[in-house]
Amino acid sequence: MDIAVIGAGSVGRALGRGLSGHGHAVIFGVRDPGDARHADLGRVATTAEAARGAALVIVAVPAAAVSGAIGELGLVGGQVVVDATNAVGMPVPDGFDTMGDLVASHVPAGVAVVKAFNTIGAEHLGDGRMGEQHAFLPIAGDADGVAVVLPLAGELGFEAVSLGGREAFRLVEDHARLWIHLAFRCGWGRGFAFGAIRR
Ligand SMILES: NC(=O)c1ccc[n+]([C@@H]2O[C@H](COP(=O)([O-])OP(=O)(O)OC[C@H]3O[C@@H](n4cnc5c(N)ncnc54)[C@H](OP(=O)(O)O)[C@@H]3O)[C@@H](O)[C@H]2O)c1
Repeated sequence: MDIAVIGAGSVGRALGRGLSGHGHAVIFGVRDPGDARHADLGRVATTAEAARGAALVIVAVPAAAVSGAIGELGLVGGQVVVDATNAVGMPVPDGFDTMGDLVASHVPAGVAVVKAFNTIGAEHLGDGRMGEQHAFLPIAGDADGVAVVLPLAGELGFEAVSLGGREAFRLVEDHARLWIHLAFRCGWGRGFAFGAIRR
């Protein structure tokens, strides 16, 4: 699949490399493709160039940068946008209830919006396997986009579960808050994932 990753920080790099490792054609969209920090990334372009023609566009920039970044992408109907962002230590910009709703407000009709890959530390995103187990990855969003993202997350080794449509964005973002709370307030550190236990 042709996948654009917007933002080449911790999350973008982990997802981009993980998806490349499974045979997907990944291109990173960054503000300055000539920046020496991106020399090891492989295919790099401006954000608009990267998003053009990509089936899947993953947004992995800080919450405060989301509106500006998406506005530059030139998205068209038929593309799927994955929102991997969290508003941490700040309210969701522009008065929106969730980052997913903020992202959805900036995409044209016909673009599917999916909330995913925001609920676990970046270092785990390229590989959801932990020993014999598969990290639990809740996602939510438009059904045609969820149908694309679920199998991709499965390829990366996650037990990915759809929680529903856009109304479930908040549930996914609250799940991220729980991970962050355990990691940083409860002293668990970053080396854990949630898993499902069944009888
Ligand atoms: N870190 C985690 O464990 C984690 C896990 C899940 C979700 N998240 C969420 O994922 C998002 C990214 O987090 P991160 O840790 O990857 O952040 P990060 O390491 O700080 O990287 C953010 C990247 O976004 C780029 N960027 C900023 N504004 C941009 C714009 N307008 N257009 C294109 N690129 C832009 C930055 O580029 P420059 O270097 O040029 O500024 C940087 O490469 C955040 O919303 C965060 O809450 C983080």
